[in-house]
Amino acid sequence: MTNNLDNVFSQKLKVTQQQREAANKQKSFTVWLTGLSASGKSTLATEIDLWLYNNGYSSYVLDGDNTRLGINKDLGFSDDDRQENIRRVAEICRLFNDAGIIAIAAYISPFEKDRLNAQRIIGQDVFVEVHIDATVETCMSRDRKGLYAKALNGEIDNFTGITGNFEAPTSPQIHIDTNKLTVKESLDILISQLKMLGKIA
Ligand code: ADX
Repeated sequence: MTNNLDNVFSQKLKVTQQQREAANKQKSFTVWLTGLSASGKSTLATEIDLWLYNNGYSSYVLDGDNTRLGINKDLGFSDDDRQENIRRVAEICRLFNDAGIIAIAAYISPFEKDRLNAQRIIGQDVFVEVHIDATVETCMSRDRKGLYAKALNGEIDNFTGITGNFEAPTSPQIHIDTNKLTVKESLDILISQLKMLGKIA
């Protein structure tokens, strides 16, 4: 019996990741933002993307809501589907990094094992885990999409923070508490921590 990978062969490209990074004058990496819905992931992802763009870097945002409307539209919110969601997105981040581009991923990614898998796919040295930390109460008070209210009414199953579990990262490289910080303050912390980690100058 052959499996579906037996007759598949890795193809080498003629332009290396290092050459692409040199052309873009940067080293690529992935910023992985994890946290509850309405914790501020998407806001911060778009802000750091804009800052990077304005400072001469090439970056791109992968956002849960957007990729669930496209490449991941076949996936729901069961634990297995979330695992596949994160696996696919991690593979995409790896491709962006291979193309010499900084990837910014904004995903609830509630399970430790899936985030570890993302780190394994993307590479330990270039995976920067950022916990966008806000309590369920804070997120409920924002609830711009009205999803917490729906989840409390029983209209959404397995809603993270209400009827679904969120395993907070135990040792993220960067921790941002958005309960009290403004967007600007959160962005400043993210930029300074990425500088401290040597990811940007
Ligand atoms: S993840 O858990 O698989 O990482 P992802 O970040 O892609 O989730 O998508 C989260 C977005 O899906 C939320 O911001 C929200 O708009 C929407 N959503 C719909 N149903 C759920 C649910 N049951 N739990 C969490 N988010 C949901």
